[in-house]
Amino acid sequence: MQDGRTTLSKFLIDTLDRKPGPHAATGLSALLVDVAASIKTIAAALTRGALGGQHGSALSVNTHGEEQKKLDLVTNDIFLQHCEWDGLLAGMVSEEMDGVYAVPEPYPRGEYLLAFDPLDGSSNIDINGVVGSIFSVSRRSASRHEAPSEADFLRPGSEQVAAGYAIYGPATMLVISVGNGTHGFTLERDVGNFVLTHSDIRIPDDSCEFAINVSNERFWEPPVRRYVKECKEGRTGCRAQDFNMRWIASMVAEVHRILMRGGVFMYPRDFKTPEMEGRLRLLYEANPMSFLVEQAGGLSITGRERILDTTPRTLHQRVPVILGSRNEVARIQRYHGEYDRGEDKPFTSPLFNERSLFLPETPV
Ligand code: F6P
Repeated sequence: MQDGRTTLSKFLIDTLDRKPGPHAATGLSALLVDVAASIKTIAAALTRGALGGQHGSALSVNTHGEEQKKLDLVTNDIFLQHCEWDGLLAGMVSEEMDGVYAVPEPYPRGEYLLAFDPLDGSSNIDINGVVGSIFSVSRRSASRHEAPSEADFLRPGSEQVAAGYAIYGPATMLVISVGNGTHGFTLERDVGNFVLTHSDIRIPDDSCEFAINVSNERFWEPPVRRYVKECKEGRTGCRAQDFNMRWIASMVAEVHRILMRGGVFMYPRDFKTPEMEGRLRLLYEANPMSFLVEQAGGLSITGRERILDTTPRTLHQRVPVILGSRNEVARIQRYHGEYDRGEDKPFTSPLFNERSLFLPETPV
């Protein structure tokens, strides 16, 4: 007898296990149920807040030289424990581990690879702010018995077979895509089920909301400065409409807002970060979020290229990220093209502002 609700397991079995044809994703639904179990366990740990005794620094740094919080390590272990035993994974990569974690003996190895950020936005923990987990699943081509290598993980994001995030806010939600749209599930805490509440999420093509850490403005490239300047000018500028700005310092929270009501999120290429590669990590932040955004009708680029077409060179590679409402992201990509071709001088010149005599004749 049906109660009219779709749980995560039912959704996955209907979508993946009963999918006919040669591309049926054997075992993927079971793997995603294990990932969801990690997320429920993390949600329970986070809900205890400071009473859980897991707040504060772990007195260690990760591979990026960033201070690790106790909860960064606890949540990393939760993912490992829930996902290593089921015979579906060959190995895992995470923000909190230097190298590839090959599934150890005595567990059998499977055909999937999992990359994850167990606690995104962890600087929000101490202020009881929103945090999240992000994950990406791909298939390895090599034999399943060998230990996976770095090369197995260094594949473009377009090859992901599933991606998702959990947002730990007033409600815990799991948002996933297995390549047939982006779908949101809300955790029914007293029962322990994820229930489908946001089916086939669509990002509006247009938006008047942008998110960027403006304290980095002096390090940005001219096309990003141009876009943000025009947004700030609002109805007095060439956009002829007012914009809102938001910054939560958690990529999960920003992407979730964009999936719910549109907008643009930018952590662009800048002169502050090493080799100007941006701040966010390609494998377990930018790739899964780009997959979800594209599956919801949005765009996700580095500024110049589609993120999902980027072939990673290293496990912890960083990448500039500009994602969200299709028309806004396309505009920012156009600004990068005009800048690279030297066609944007009237817009980026210091002599140009909305009251200047140098106002270009053709508004963009
Ligand atoms: O490390 C990733 C991250 O925490 C993102 O989730 C977030 O968007 C960003 O860093 C916050 O950066 P900043 O410290 O510049 O606000």
